Amino acid sequence: MTLRDTIFSPASADSISTAAELLRQGQLVAFPTETVYGLGGDATDDHAVAAIFAAKNRPQFNPLIAHVPDIAAAEGLVRLDERARLLAAHFWPGPLTLVLPRRDDGTVSLLASAGLDSIAVRVPDHPVALALLKAAGRPIAAPSANPSGGVSPTTARHVAEGLNGRLAMILDGGACAVGVESTVLDLTTATPTLLRPGGVTLEQLRALLGEVAFADAHDETSPKSPGMLASHYAPGLPVRLDVTEPQAGEALLGFGPVSGAVMNLSEEGDLSQAAAHLFAMLRALDRPDFQGIAVSPIPETGLGLAINDRLRRAAAPRG
Ligand code: TXA
Ligand code: MG
Repeated sequence: MTLRDTIFSPASADSISTAAELLRQGQLVAFPTETVYGLGGDATDDHAVAAIFAAKNRPQFNPLIAHVPDIAAAEGLVRLDERARLLAAHFWPGPLTLVLPRRDDGTVSLLASAGLDSIAVRVPDHPVALALLKAAGRPIAAPSANPSGGVSPTTARHVAEGLNGRLAMILDGGACAVGVESTVLDLTTATPTLLRPGGVTLEQLRALLGEVAFADAHDETSPKSPGMLASHYAPGLPVRLDVTEPQAGEALLGFGPVSGAVMNLSEEGDLSQAAAHLFAMLRALDRPDFQGIAVSPIPETGLGLAINDRLRRAAAPRG
């Protein structure tokens, strides 16, 4: 694809309205959410959606999330059941994406949902994202704003590093507070199924819904979905997990009170802090003075499930 000038602008009432106009014209705009920066395009416009896949170099069978400003806008795209309404009331705006049956009269591009008869929807908890979605007046498809397979962006600078020249505008709204992507929950099944752990924890979902299924890709006792552990979120350097003794040349990314760490996700062992730091620290350690990145063990509870999921993919064999 051809490179073009990308406008880089602090988020303001003016720049948000420019961004909304660009989206309505079918252009791509990166914007902050509470999880990571999204690469937005008009979800109802086949060309805009195709441009998102092209800019990221993303395999087209991987469907996109439609972002909307409120539950009323979601009602126009998908059929919400009681569980969906309960979840929306608790967690929207917030880092929860719901996969629901597409409405027959819904306008989301089939390319955005990769031809599925379901659509993933979410209401992000970020003032810039919400203002932009309201001003755009249509659902916005937005994967993380990074080249496919790489580390997700949690600052506007990260977006520019990966995608400059491949989109019309980057709205800078500072660093993302949550730092890992939204939780993706499939509600097209009788039992709600966790497809991707994220900012809303499995414990929170189970407290509200009771049973929630989770095809845990690293659990040796559960059936493995092919491709579940494909390399993703990967920095240039190899990544090694659950490390207590780093090898020569490895940069230790610590968690908790460990000694010898080059950077620490959270010295206090706080998982929210660790999630917020994760992608920025993987980027910062990805430099030629090291031969690899070694990561301290991180508990498999709460946000630890999402953090470990991203780290396992970062450490997975590169294709
Ligand atoms: O936090 C987030 O969710 C960020 C911000 C920008 O909102 N977005 C994001 O998008 O992470 P992306 O495209 O990187 O991840 C979307 C996930 C993928 O795992 C995709 O397979 C899944 O949602 N997904 C989307 N539509 C789906 C559908 N109809 N059925 C099942 N999974 C779906
Ligand atoms: Mg992504």
